[in-house]
Amino acid sequence: MKRFEKHVFICNNSRPAGHPRGCCFDKGSKELIDEFKKKVAAAGLNKIIRVNLSGCLDACEKGIAMVVYPEQVWYGNVKLEDIDEIIQSHLINDKPVERLELNEQDFKNEK
Ligand code: FES
Repeated sequence: MKRFEKHVFICNNSRPAGHPRGCCFDKGSKELIDEFKKKVAAAGLNKIIRVNLSGCLDACEKGIAMVVYPEQVWYGNVKLEDIDEIIQSHLINDKPVERLELNEQDFKNEK
C-alpha cells in the first residue's frame, strides 16, 4: 500500500547538556519541524508528503539532520531559511538541494 509519495524524517533527538555529540533539539529542531510541517501543508502537499519528527539519525555533528524517502537523500545543518528551497526544489521538483546533502564521508567521521 502506498500512502505517501515522500516521507521526510527530521531528527528531534535531545541529549543532556555537554554531551560530546550534541543534539538536533538544541539546534532548534522542534521549531524547524513545526515550520516544515506548516509550509508543506500551506503548499497543499500534506496528502502526498508526510513530515515526521524522528529520533537520532546518527548525523548529530551535522544536525539538524533529516532524510527524505524513498530516495534516501540526507541533509545536514538544515536551518529555517532552507525549508522553502527543500520544499520547492526537492519535494516538488524532485531536485535535491546539493549544498545541504550529507555524503558517506560525513557519516564515516562520526564512527
Ligand atoms: S541528534 Fe540529530 S542526528 Fe543525532
